[in-house]
Amino acid sequence: MTFADTKVIRGVALRRDPAREDCFTVAQLHTEMHDYTDMSPVSMRQRLHRHMHNEMQNTEITAQTLVDFPGVPWELRMELARQCWDEVRHTQLCYRRLKELGGHKGEFPVMNYEWGVVCMVDSLPARLALQNRTFEAGEMDLFRELIGKWREVGDETTAQMLDGMLADEVQHVRFGNRWLKRMAREDPSILMKVAGAIRFLEDVNQALAPQPGEVNALGVDLTAFVHLDVFANVEDRRRAEFSEEELAEILRQEGFGSIIPQTAAGEPRA
Ligand SMILES: [Fe+2]
Ligand SMILES: [Fe+2]
Repeated sequence: MTFADTKVIRGVALRRDPAREDCFTVAQLHTEMHDYTDMSPVSMRQRLHRHMHNEMQNTEITAQTLVDFPGVPWELRMELARQCWDEVRHTQLCYRRLKELGGHKGEFPVMNYEWGVVCMVDSLPARLALQNRTFEAGEMDLFRELIGKWREVGDETTAQMLDGMLADEVQHVRFGNRWLKRMAREDPSILMKVAGAIRFLEDVNQALAPQPGEVNALGVDLTAFVHLDVFANVEDRRRAEFSEEELAEILRQEGFGSIIPQTAAGEPRA
């Protein structure tokens, strides 16, 4: 990666934005975004537009990983290629639904946050750790909540669309987990690369986090605004082969420590 491939936002270097059609307005910070808090018609279109753009980014991140690491085992290249296919399909599904609700491409600003972070790390384990195991696993949790939200407002079509996409996301997280474990068994030094990537993500999040009083382009207070109370989607994370120990840790961080079964030694049961 050269200097020309990067951009600096609030002091951190990120991968430069991928090409976008002229209809898109590309934002760099949350303050420029149009995130709504409700489920009004315009908010529903904005949510679908953001989903569509996230799926576009997922396609691009995965395709870029295939390009950047040509020497990886064939089976893993096939997994990544299948993921590209899934993410393209997800993009098309969101786009079709957006149009059905009267929206259009470029209707709201877009931000290439995941792309900027994931494509900065220079090893395959670090990419899988950030993209599949962190962002997509988080998406899995979010999807479960969002399906209920769309169902609540009577949009069963969008709810079912998200449910179908969620099944694919489980597979993306699962193969990421499988390959990371396999690579760590064969070469434990990759854990240092993974840890470095997680630290980088924390630094980026700290730099980009909204400051007290900052509002987005609609005047929504970004520090007071909580999108959704997202709890870990334990069932799907188990399907995606997070270990019982890892699930216990996630639940503990979310304040559910008391429900984790304890062994005689006081350790969570693995
Ligand atoms: Fe997807
Ligand atoms: Fe995915």
